[in-house]
Amino acid sequence: MTSTSAEAVLTAAPRLEPACKSTRSRKTLEPARTLDDLINGLHVIFADDVVDVEEVTHFMESYCAKKNEWETLATFDTHRYTRNLIDSGNGKFNLILLCWGEGHGSSIHDHSDSHCFMKMMDGSLTETKYSWPSEKKKRPMNVTDVTAYEKDHVAYINDSIGLHRVENRSHTNKAVSLHLYSPPFNMCQSFDERSGHKVKCNVTFHTKYGEKVCYKNKCK
Ligand SMILES: [Fe+2]
Repeated sequence: MTSTSAEAVLTAAPRLEPACKSTRSRKTLEPARTLDDLINGLHVIFADDVVDVEEVTHFMESYCAKKNEWETLATFDTHRYTRNLIDSGNGKFNLILLCWGEGHGSSIHDHSDSHCFMKMMDGSLTETKYSWPSEKKKRPMNVTDVTAYEKDHVAYINDSIGLHRVENRSHTNKAVSLHLYSPPFNMCQSFDERSGHKVKCNVTFHTKYGEKVCYKNKCK
């Protein structure tokens, strides 16, 4: 797709209907009926060293998110979205609950050569994808796709697909999403939309396993 503004692409973007599909995954796992089922099944799937993107996507889609199962792990901040680590997958993956207040959004970022799965738990989020910017010339970044996701949809991205920004465009509703990164990473790159300029950034957590995290004696 040629260079296009995010608004123009959004107008034409499909607004996907909610989906959770109670189909068996290829490893003959039962559909995940609870968040605990989902976490336990992901441990089974990621016991292998090869990541089957379709397998993980189908299994995450099989879970119909229930608020009473995740709300005690959700923390919101007035100014920005929060990352809440809920499982570290025996070192194979990180499972992180992201809590988005009204109007909150991420930077444009990469995923440090990891797989990134995003399952909607509540509300709606808009993902804007970008192609990698030129290393040589400063120019506005190129939007390749804009999609709005509703509850129970699972999206996937990695660095070969491109970069993305995720936003809660609602001014009245919060949103919550569950992200799986494999392998886990603690550094990524953020990009300036107008120039493609990039900076390194640390991946930090607001809470880990329900406990507030403090960095340099300062609690986030
Ligand atoms: Fe991301």
